Amino acid sequence: MAGAVGLAEFLSRVDALRQEAVAAFHAASDTESLEKARIAYLGAKSGRLRALQKNLAGLDRADKPQAGQGFNRVKRDLDAALEAASKRIAQPVTAERSAGIFDPTVPGKQLSLGTIHPVTQTMLDVAEIMGRLGFTVAEGPEVEDEWHNFGALNIPRSHPARDPLDNFYLAVGGKSSPRQMLLRSQTSTVQIRVMERTRPPVRIISLGRVYRPDTADATHYPMFHQIEGLLVDQRVTMADLKSVLRLFAMSYFGGDVHIRFRPSFFPFTEPSVEVDMSWHEGWIEMGGAGMVDPHVLQAVGYDPEDVTGFAFGLGVERICMRRYGLTDIRHLYENDVRFLQQF
Ligand code: DAH
Repeated sequence: MAGAVGLAEFLSRVDALRQEAVAAFHAASDTESLEKARIAYLGAKSGRLRALQKNLAGLDRADKPQAGQGFNRVKRDLDAALEAASKRIAQPVTAERSAGIFDPTVPGKQLSLGTIHPVTQTMLDVAEIMGRLGFTVAEGPEVEDEWHNFGALNIPRSHPARDPLDNFYLAVGGKSSPRQMLLRSQTSTVQIRVMERTRPPVRIISLGRVYRPDTADATHYPMFHQIEGLLVDQRVTMADLKSVLRLFAMSYFGGDVHIRFRPSFFPFTEPSVEVDMSWHEGWIEMGGAGMVDPHVLQAVGYDPEDVTGFAFGLGVERICMRRYGLTDIRHLYENDVRFLQQF
């Protein structure tokens, strides 16, 4: 039996039920659980609201209008809450909906990260390996003067390396300019810049761009990168040069790498060699090297009777291409994301 329930008690029970039912509709996550909640609270035969309604009959006559109004208001609220819940469940998961709740089952957004360009990566690797051998990284300008690109490197005025057809001379300052400028054609310029400002011993590498007006093909590009190495100290020999190059190549390529020297000529080294490396199969030319020519040491104010040194210049693209099995240098500069993503 309903028993005697006062108005205040009735209204407070109706309100408590409202809160409970709204929470239950809100918590329902699918059609099935919402239907269960609907039957429990709003079911026509044995729902809890229906049970409360029976108490209305036992109230004082005078209280009935107010009680009835309170009851009807709650009934409307619950109908609205039920409708809102069933709409929510019918909707797909939206960003707004998931914003408030953390749903670990919603697939994450795929962020596309860039990768380091293979040429940059090669230079970082080289700097790291040479750093372990005690070489620090030095830098020099890409816009150079003739003294640092040629003169101080013992390249005479008449030398074909200075040919305007083989260099990017710049029209700065005009003909009367005391300093003819050009885009550096080799990183050997940095040897000079470093020795001019430091006393021996010197142990540096320099990594950077160089420019030559070559037509682009599978092995040439008008801009490419070189690794320059320079070590000047007392009693430095060609054996030191070969050891350093071999240690470098073994670290960079990993495992069994061989170094071969072939006699060559560079104005800034004496004797001079071409450096070949073999890794897995076949020899490939990696660059030039030699013992720093006494004229170069003199040009920067060093005493060739006191110190000797070795220098080398390797092509960054060459060693990068060898390592990754690339056959065309142009791939490195086309900026095709499908290519770059592989590194
Ligand atoms: N600068 C030379 C070139 O670009 C490469 C080179 C050869 C650098 C011998 C050196 C060296 O330091 O000793 O072809």
